[in-house]
Amino acid sequence: MCTFNTLLKAEHLTEFICRFNIMSNKKVTKIGILCSGGDSPGMNAAIRAAVRTGLHYGLEVFGIMRGYSGMLEDDIFKMESRSVANIIQRGGTVLKTARCMEFYEHEGRKKGYENLRKRGIDGLVIIGGDGSFRGAQTFSNEFDIPCVGLPGTIDKDIAGTDFTIGFDTAVNTAVEAIDKIRDTADSHDRLFVIEVMGRDAGYIALHSGIATGAENILIPERKTYIDDIIQSLQEKEKRKKLVNLIIVAEGDDFGGGDEVAKYIKQKMPQLEVRLCILGHIQRGGTPTCMDRLIASRMGYHAVECLVEGKHNVFVGIQNNRMNYTPLNEAVKKKQRINEEWLKIVKILAT
Ligand code: F6P
Repeated sequence: MCTFNTLLKAEHLTEFICRFNIMSNKKVTKIGILCSGGDSPGMNAAIRAAVRTGLHYGLEVFGIMRGYSGMLEDDIFKMESRSVANIIQRGGTVLKTARCMEFYEHEGRKKGYENLRKRGIDGLVIIGGDGSFRGAQTFSNEFDIPCVGLPGTIDKDIAGTDFTIGFDTAVNTAVEAIDKIRDTADSHDRLFVIEVMGRDAGYIALHSGIATGAENILIPERKTYIDDIIQSLQEKEKRKKLVNLIIVAEGDDFGGGDEVAKYIKQKMPQLEVRLCILGHIQRGGTPTCMDRLIASRMGYHAVECLVEGKHNVFVGIQNNRMNYTPLNEAVKKKQRINEEWLKIVKILAT
């Protein structure tokens, strides 16, 4: 039955499609898959899903090694169902990944296009972050190759999706490490400053900090008032609370874990302060069930997009439903920090 609501939705859909020019009648027959930017756990599950869905729809599927670099260097190979056997549980990416400077130049992109053209590749699945999507958008504008993105980054810094592939694993890795650090903090009455990744986003810090009961969480999205932290540490010291975990996102405006630890040591030399930078352990390892699941769903839907003629979007999941955001929109927006979460940190960390 056609209700007002469905009419309204259809109207919006048409407006959306016209505004962003995301539909095309071009029939895709051969697709290339690549990973770009930093690796993230779950990328292999996404590759597997895209390859097998492509084959299911009768497409020829090609793997492109080391992201856009492999496209430029013609490091491209045909993939079959067996090419992606036994990889769903593996971290990293079997296609390898890289950040490619040459792809920023028109000449570089043209070289990549020529390599696709000689094989007849007429659609691309790009697994990466917002920088990779920016490259895909420019490439598609120039050479009319439909591109569909999958958000693969531990940073979760892309609007239009509640999850990015790899975030859940990275957070769980951080939580496991922080729990272990707490044992030592507790045994020795120490204050630990723990720096987590996230580039200029604070999601890994916020999620892992709340989940481990950290006393303070410093994120790039908010100014760090370091003297307020000192004051609260002094109050806690009076109450004989000496165990403290301070989670610092690497992009925090005070300068990251190193600077925070130094400042606290200088202001409160009586405390035993230790710094631990978790670093790249957050990028590797076996993907969690959650990451495998979203990667599989997203990989499947990315190929469906290409088959249906929906191009230059990235596939996200919002409120457990698939969501398609134009690639150029993903570039502009960042996710917003939930104010309530910050309030929870304050109330619980007493
Ligand atoms: O984007 C993922 C990420 O791990 C960030 O959290 C971090 O800032 C950056 O990549 C590190 O990059 P690299 O591995 O090149 O040092």
